[in-house]
Amino acid sequence: MPLPLTLHHILHTTFYYTPTLYISAMAPALTESLPAAPHQLNSNAPRDIFPDGLKTTGQHAPLYDHIREFEQFPKEITGRTAWQPEEYRGQPEKWTHAFNAEEIEELSTAADNFLKAKIPLTGISKKNFPLPNLSKDLETLREDLLNGKGFILFKGFPVEKWGNHKSAVAYMGLGTYLGYFVSQNSRGHVLGHVKDLGEDSTQIDKVRIYRTNARQYFHADDSDVVGLLCIAKALEGGESDIASSHTVYNALAKERPDVLQTLTAPIWYFDRKGETSAGQEEYIRTSVIYLERGENARVYTKWDPYYVRSLSRFSDAGIIPPLSPEQLEAIEVLEQTCQRSALHMVLDVGDIQFVTNSHVLHSRTEYKDYPPPAPRRHLMRLWLATPEEEGGWKLPFWDSNEKKRGGIQVDDQAPVAPLDAE
Ligand SMILES: [Fe+2]
Repeated sequence: MPLPLTLHHILHTTFYYTPTLYISAMAPALTESLPAAPHQLNSNAPRDIFPDGLKTTGQHAPLYDHIREFEQFPKEITGRTAWQPEEYRGQPEKWTHAFNAEEIEELSTAADNFLKAKIPLTGISKKNFPLPNLSKDLETLREDLLNGKGFILFKGFPVEKWGNHKSAVAYMGLGTYLGYFVSQNSRGHVLGHVKDLGEDSTQIDKVRIYRTNARQYFHADDSDVVGLLCIAKALEGGESDIASSHTVYNALAKERPDVLQTLTAPIWYFDRKGETSAGQEEYIRTSVIYLERGENARVYTKWDPYYVRSLSRFSDAGIIPPLSPEQLEAIEVLEQTCQRSALHMVLDVGDIQFVTNSHVLHSRTEYKDYPPPAPRRHLMRLWLATPEEEGGWKLPFWDSNEKKRGGIQVDDQAPVAPLDAE
């Protein structure tokens, strides 16, 4: 179904009514300055391993000095980040953009030229992937991802016509206009492949769920923005839901402030699932809900229940505390509240979903693939970073101003962009 609106149109007309500030109760400023010490900024990564000199910073503990007390959190969040599903349900024209012929042509030309130049996919950037027209709308989209409703669904990426290589180039090229790609696992994948590889989803301390067909509860990925390009669909299931974590926050603030308080305390241990650099602990103690640093601090969420449930190998041994009854209840209440606030969407072949992780949580249903030889469900995934000085959120982490902040980086593993799962 072709949509009558242009990208420019949906980006500009949908948001005219949302000028208000995010927070009703302001927290006192701690500091506006960028946190760097005790770590070094990362712009001098070895060029023989990281051709652009930028290494994904990876997972880290927060700066505990910047974790705020619950009393400093807002009573309610208002503005365009705190959307209700009813605002969008049944109205895909507010959040969907079908690429038109000119846009596809522009992407196609940029991808062909990039392929002709024989640059490795890990070297793609705005400079070698020019989009003179589309880039203006992508700037508006980026603003809406970071500061607005936080999601969009593109339709009509001609993945079958282009094949996986050219599709990957065009997709990563598009992504460079939204953020810097970061490594998604210990193998250095900057182009991820969400696919069932037959790994055992019950081994949650070792297996990443994106490599299985299991259900994913509401969570955020380890990046500022996540992109999913649908290459092949499942026979059934694998559908996605998203929820504004600010709307979820408001519901909890009203109904279960005790749960909210539990989620803001730095008492949560997150598993690295063995994706650990030399000298690092196997887990990170942190909060689930944070405030940004500085004035007008927004509420930021970083969550995945699989990662906190998988640590019994350490809690059983008395190395870290087990999840308390309050934490176990908070996990349940958070998931239920997300489900109540969810907007459902189905990705067809050629669709690209971009979602922010700062204030949107996402989930997917369990799925079943077509029997072979039909292709298995396959989504190409991008994790994109938006450093603080380029409009990104002021996170309470040392790497807040790193270009490739977040992601998963193990030692000096070089970035790679495989064209299929491996
Ligand atoms: Fe995810």
